[in-house]
Amino acid sequence: MIPIYKPLIEDEEVNAVSKVVRSGWVSSKGKELKVFEDHFSKYIGRKAGVSTSSGTTALHLALAALGIRKGDEVVAPDFTFVSPVNAVIYQNAEPVLVDAEYETFGADPDKIKEAISKRTKAVVVAHMYGNAARIDEIKEITEDKGVYLIEDCAESIGAKYNGKMVGSRGIISCFSFYGNKIITTGEGGMCLTDDYEIGEKLSTLRDHGMKPEKRYWHDEVGFNYRMTNMQAALGLAQLKKIDQIIARKRKIAAQYQELLSNRLEVQSDPPNQESVFWLYSVLSKSGTVRERILRELEKNDIESRRFFHPVHTMPPYRNFRFISQKRKVSNDISRRGFNLPSYPGISQEELTLVSETVNRIV
Ligand SMILES: Cc1ncc(COP(=O)(O)O)c(C=O)c1O
Repeated sequence: MIPIYKPLIEDEEVNAVSKVVRSGWVSSKGKELKVFEDHFSKYIGRKAGVSTSSGTTALHLALAALGIRKGDEVVAPDFTFVSPVNAVIYQNAEPVLVDAEYETFGADPDKIKEAISKRTKAVVVAHMYGNAARIDEIKEITEDKGVYLIEDCAESIGAKYNGKMVGSRGIISCFSFYGNKIITTGEGGMCLTDDYEIGEKLSTLRDHGMKPEKRYWHDEVGFNYRMTNMQAALGLAQLKKIDQIIARKRKIAAQYQELLSNRLEVQSDPPNQESVFWLYSVLSKSGTVRERILRELEKNDIESRRFFHPVHTMPPYRNFRFISQKRKVSNDISRRGFNLPSYPGISQEELTLVSETVNRIV
């Protein structure tokens, strides 16, 4: 079976984790954590990093630290993995969903503008499948309306829009290091910010709301959303090869573009972007055609994956407001889209085999 993804884990990762395990610093104290937070924030270009137990807890922590609560609205994408929407619901606030756009798969800036009301406190933007959303346009809207901008960069670590990394614009930007992400810590995530006060708040809330200068004293209810030192050691080893991983992923994308673009709509850099092509994405002619392609790929031992379901179509989210185009883009791409194997270690032969098989089926 050619898998859709597997992380690039080599001797450096194994040695780094073994060293930490042997040291006994296996929980959320230990020097690797601070170094990983510092190095990762520097890589994205932010001042402070607060590591977390996952991308989802990073998003929840961000909303909690900004004081989002019952009665507030938060504009969120309709086309995404559910985490950013769930994080809003965890805070008892109300998500207002907005449609995607074809070029980036991200939320449409015009629809975000339309969705903002007097009750809106924040906009959460998810950068999808390695692309960036049109984040400069969105930032301008949030500044104009006086609402917070939170970036969810789980799927697009290292992608650039107008020459600047995703995650460099949100008041807080959140990342995931799950096993299929650009770099991994197993499970894990991080919040980045330039505001040290917000950084302190994130850090306190992550550790049960415990006052740093008065142990076991709690002024507020927090969470245990801490990363372990073992995960940080893995993350640090991965961070050393992030540029190599991204270069390889861009090369894989270039090959798929060349081999598949005659027959399918293939993912390429949207205007003004450098995508990292997380899970290489393709749109077929129709939903029926996609299902046939996926069935045949499975028969040929090639793993693939359907695009996410639009959030507004799933039971827990059906009653939320959804600001969409007349012809709902999220519904359309969700029906026609799928992802192909695109992990950094995929061999040339495997890439050719996947492309030839897809072309034959189409
Ligand atoms: C857009 C997006 N946000 C958040 C997450 C959540 O990350 P995690 O699985 O680390 O909780 C994911 C996970 O895949 C994601 O795709």
